[in-house]
Amino acid sequence: MIQNDLLLKTLAGDTVERPPVWMMRQAGRILPNYRKIRAKAGSFKNLVTQPDWIAEATVEPVDVLGVDAAIIFSDILVIPEAMGLDYEIIEKKGPLFNDKIRSQRDIDQLIEGDVIPSRLPYVFESIKRTKTILNDRVPLIGFAGAPWTIFAYMVEGSGSKTFSEAKKMIYKEPHLAHQLLSKITSSTIFYLKEKIASGVNVIKLFDSWSGLLNSEIYNEFAWPYAERILTAIDEVPTIFFPKGGWFSYDKFGSSDVFDCLGVGWSTDPKFARQKMGSNRILQGNLDPCRLYDSKQNIEVATSKMLDSFGRNHIANLGHGVYPDTSVENVKCFIDSVKSYRYK
Ligand code: CP3
Repeated sequence: MIQNDLLLKTLAGDTVERPPVWMMRQAGRILPNYRKIRAKAGSFKNLVTQPDWIAEATVEPVDVLGVDAAIIFSDILVIPEAMGLDYEIIEKKGPLFNDKIRSQRDIDQLIEGDVIPSRLPYVFESIKRTKTILNDRVPLIGFAGAPWTIFAYMVEGSGSKTFSEAKKMIYKEPHLAHQLLSKITSSTIFYLKEKIASGVNVIKLFDSWSGLLNSEIYNEFAWPYAERILTAIDEVPTIFFPKGGWFSYDKFGSSDVFDCLGVGWSTDPKFARQKMGSNRILQGNLDPCRLYDSKQNIEVATSKMLDSFGRNHIANLGHGVYPDTSVENVKCFIDSVKSYRYK
C-alpha cells in the first residue's frame, strides 16, 4: 500500500479533495544535492548508470519539495542507446549521437525487441533501490519516450529546433520511417514491461516533439505507435504527453488506451477540457517560465490554472522545470497546489 495515494486515486477517477502535484524534470536540474551528485559523477552518462546515485536523485524532490509522486531519474535516450546508438549529453547543448539512422542498412543493424531490457540492467536495479528508499511513501513513475520523439533523435542525431532530417525521412522515405518506428515501439514495450516488473506504479509516455507535426502526419507516424505501447501497458495507469499535439485532441478524446493526457503549456486548459470532456484526467500545465515571476503571481497563476482544469486533474508544469528556477519559487508552486481545495 502506498501511503500518499492521491496520484493513484486521481488516476483511478476517485473523488479527491485537491489535485496531486509533481513536476516534470523534478529529479535533476534544480536541487542542490542533485548538483553535488552530478559533479561527483562527472558526466550525465556516468550518473544515469549508477543505481545508488539515481535513487538519491529520484527521492530528493519528495524529501525537499514534498511532491506527491517520484519519477525515476533516467532519460528517454537509453532506448536508442540499447538499440545500438551511443550518445553523449553535451553541456548546455544537449544530446549528441555518434551515429545517425539514415538508411535501410542503418535500420537493419539496430538491436530491438525482447533483448532490450537485458541491455539496461541499471535502470531496473535503480527502480528497485529507489522503491526501498521510498518505502511506499509516494508512487514511483516510470517513463519512456514515445516512438516519434525517439525516432526524431535517432534520425537527426542530436537535438534540433526543427528536426528537419527526421521529418525529411517521414516525407521522402515513409517505408523506412515505419520500419524504424516499429522497432522503437517493440523495444519500448519490452522495456516498460520490465520497469513495471521492477516496481514502478505509473507509466508516462513523453511525446515531446508532437508539436513539430500536423494532424495528418501525427496520425500516421506518431499516434499509431504510441497507441500500440499504451495498449500493451495494462498493469498500471498511463499518462500520455503529446506536447503541442492539440491538433489531434479529437483523436485522443475518443481513445481509451491511456488514463491521463498531459497538456503542454501552449494549450489552453479550457480547450483541453472541452475537447477531452469533464471526466477525463488531464495533467499540466503551468508555463515553467511562470516560476521566474513573483511568489504572489505564481500563487494567482496556479489557482487560476487549477480552476480552469477543475476536477480530474493532476497539477504539473506544462513542460520540464528549467535549471535556473529558484527552489523557493518551485516550493511556492507546489504549496499553492497543496493548499487548494475543490469547491
Ligand atoms: O523528470 C525527471 O526529473 C526525471 C529525469 C528525466 C531526465 N530526462 C533527466 C535528464 C526525464 C523524465 C527525462 C526525459 C527526457 N529526456 C525528455 C522528455 C521530457 C522533455 O523534457 O520533453 C527528453 C526530450 C529528453 C532528452 C534530453 N536529455 C535532453 C534534451 C537533455 C539535455 C538538456 C536537459 O537538461 O534537458 C537530456 C539530458 C538530461 N536528462 C539531463 C537530466 C537531468 C541534464 C543532464 C545533466 O545534468 O548534465
